[in-house]
Amino acid sequence: MAIDRIVNTGVSDDDQQQEQELENTLRPKDFANYIGQERLKQNIKLAIEAAKKRGEPLDHILLYGPPGLGKTTMASVIANEMGAQIRVTSGPAIERAGDLASLLTNLQDGDMLFIDEIHRLNRSVEEVLYSAMEDFKLDIMLGKGPSARSLRLDIPKFTLIGATTRTGALAAPLRDRFGLIHRLEFYKPEEIQQIIVRAADILNVRIERTAAQELAHRARLTPRIANRLLKRVRDYADVNGDGIIDTVISSQALHLLEVDELGLDPADRMLLLAIIDNYKGGPVGVETLAALTAEERSTIEDFYEPYLMQIGLLERTPRGRKVTHKAYRHLGKTPHPATGQTDLL
Ligand SMILES: Nc1ncnc2c1ncn2[C@@H]1O[C@H](COP(=O)(O)OP(=O)(O)OP(=O)(O)O)[C@@H](O)[C@H]1O
Ligand SMILES: [Mg+2]
Repeated sequence: MAIDRIVNTGVSDDDQQQEQELENTLRPKDFANYIGQERLKQNIKLAIEAAKKRGEPLDHILLYGPPGLGKTTMASVIANEMGAQIRVTSGPAIERAGDLASLLTNLQDGDMLFIDEIHRLNRSVEEVLYSAMEDFKLDIMLGKGPSARSLRLDIPKFTLIGATTRTGALAAPLRDRFGLIHRLEFYKPEEIQQIIVRAADILNVRIERTAAQELAHRARLTPRIANRLLKRVRDYADVNGDGIIDTVISSQALHLLEVDELGLDPADRMLLLAIIDNYKGGPVGVETLAALTAEERSTIEDFYEPYLMQIGLLERTPRGRKVTHKAYRHLGKTPHPATGQTDLL
């Protein structure tokens, strides 16, 4: 990616380890510290209580939603609240059916298996997962050709927690085997503010309430970005001030980072301007957008669009993506008269 995006949820290799450490330090361990997502928490708490009462493993859970909203965090909170062990892996990491078989046979009753990016499992692996999820059985083929026979193995009664940025990409037979399917929503600014205050507390950063509020409005309603902004603004405060984050320091830092009042960075603005300038505001196909911005289609769909739609700057129509009047206003542009934009606000 051409621009080092503060608001991007993708992470460069250089920063990966540091980023990972930050995330782990700040990751809430229980429901009490997991801010927001009230409906999700309520539903899962109920399921946990019921499972405990019956002495059964928790139903398989699928969590979906844009990156950085707390899917991985929720998986570890669930394991913690169940008092269970959790094994963490991801769709692309399980290459063959045998890899999955060895993962599953090494679990213990009640363990959790977290598969991140579960939409990226390959077909043969996915098929093994079906009977594992449904009956806690593993079907293994021995040999090939006419002498081949299949073997059914019992495996521990585990709970699968799957995470994906999109359920659409998940095969129906897999989706149907999850007892609980939950979408993570964007957070309210007040919740993001609480997350920032909590993170500042853990990191021993002094931040004024008004500055936390301002950061919260620019964090794309996403905890990961809130934490990242906090860290960058702290660096700025350490170098250019006395380490305390007040509104002067935070606005200067955000200005330097080119994150605007709506949390957009230059890449977002470029995307919107490309639609306005080249396509009179749209509609335009997602492939064209990918080409215009030199981004992967999946980056546009998983990362840019959900937030831009959430705050009413972009609309998805059957004929493609359109920018709204609000987007024109935000970018200081005059709406094209012939586009018939609908205004979301
Ligand atoms: N509800 C929350 N309360 C407080 N902090 C949170 C919450 N949700 C997420 N975070 C913070 O945001 C960071 C990112 O969350 P997490 O890694 O769980 O996102 P994710 O949805 O798994 O993202 P991805 O789709 O990229 O895997 C975590 O390190 C954690 O510190
Ligand atoms: Mg994750």
